[in-house]
Amino acid sequence: MSLKKLILLPASLLALACSKGNVEPCDLSSGRLYQKVNFPVGVAVEPEALYNLPPYSNIVQGQYNSITAETIMKPEHLHPFEGVYFWGEADSLARYCEANNKRLHGHTLIWHQQLPQWIINFEGDRAAWDALLKDHVQTIVTHFRGRVSGWDVVNEAFNDDGTMRSTVWHEHLGSSYIEKAFRYAREADPDAKLFYNDYSLALNPKKRRAVMTLLTDLRAKGVPIDGIGMQGHIFIGFPEVSEFVSTMNEIWRSGFSVHVSELDVSMNPFGREMPLASETDLNRQANVILQIFQAYRQVPSQYQYGITFWGVGDADSWIRSYFARDDYPLMFDDQYRAKPAYCKLLEHL
Ligand code: G3I
Repeated sequence: MSLKKLILLPASLLALACSKGNVEPCDLSSGRLYQKVNFPVGVAVEPEALYNLPPYSNIVQGQYNSITAETIMKPEHLHPFEGVYFWGEADSLARYCEANNKRLHGHTLIWHQQLPQWIINFEGDRAAWDALLKDHVQTIVTHFRGRVSGWDVVNEAFNDDGTMRSTVWHEHLGSSYIEKAFRYAREADPDAKLFYNDYSLALNPKKRRAVMTLLTDLRAKGVPIDGIGMQGHIFIGFPEVSEFVSTMNEIWRSGFSVHVSELDVSMNPFGREMPLASETDLNRQANVILQIFQAYRQVPSQYQYGITFWGVGDADSWIRSYFARDDYPLMFDDQYRAKPAYCKLLEHL
């Protein structure tokens, strides 16, 4: 459903009540999710919806105390041309966070996607690429110093088989680009928490081992890596919650803060026609999310950076457009009504 159509929906249809499931129905006036736990609970947002769509902004405002920009703080947006930085949208989001007492998490400085064309086409020797990396990282981190609590400094640098992903950064600087990015970020903001962020860490032991080995080695050399963002793009049933939790535990036991950075729980991995979410799936999804929260509660507080959902309502999720399939991965439905996952968290946390 388009943003425009949603805005035109009558208020009664936007009532935020649980519509399905054997979980006790609830509405958003029954509590604030972030007040139920002693760690930050975050959400990825798109400014257009945040500023223009009341049911969306009510949820963000009332339920979360940490915000990640889903797209507008990626390199293509912040650094579209050589020497040109575009701060407008991200500065507005930072002001929103300050005005509403939300933490702002920075996503992301170095990634192979959403790279501006000028970086892809950049010609220069190793020293020139190093200078480019340094300017990019330090200009952005300096600009947001004091307003961004933590950064996904490097995002998704590994392939599924545990080898390093071939990116422009890797091509021109070798694997040293990771170390450099963290060192440059720390120089620019000594107080921001610096994260490496990746997906499938629980599902894929090969990739997990490669990531943990590299980050542990780098940290032993003094590279300032504070934590690991464990993206939570998971499915009902896989990985098993126990695998997800043991990965979370491995991360903090290795001395890194753990951020469950991009949580969404898909119901339709094989892309079947699924015009509605079944009650069974809604309840299974609720259980998965509750178990993750309960396990995260047990993480020692010095390693808890928080849990961040990757979107507000199902209609906002990247999963539907990216995989072109029906899916219902988030805690609020297409009309921003609370789903069993939200109600269960509120009831049991
Ligand atoms: O805003 C434009 C709009 O103006 C235009 O008309 C439309 C047509 O294509 O595109 C819109 O931009 C899209 C943007 O999302 C906002 O919806 C981009 O094409 C699209 O590529 C972008 O996708 C984002 C993707 O990262 C790439 O940046 C997804 O929303 C976002 O959820 C996804 O997030 C990533 C994390 O950053 C890293 N981990 C995996 C995760 C999922 O892929």
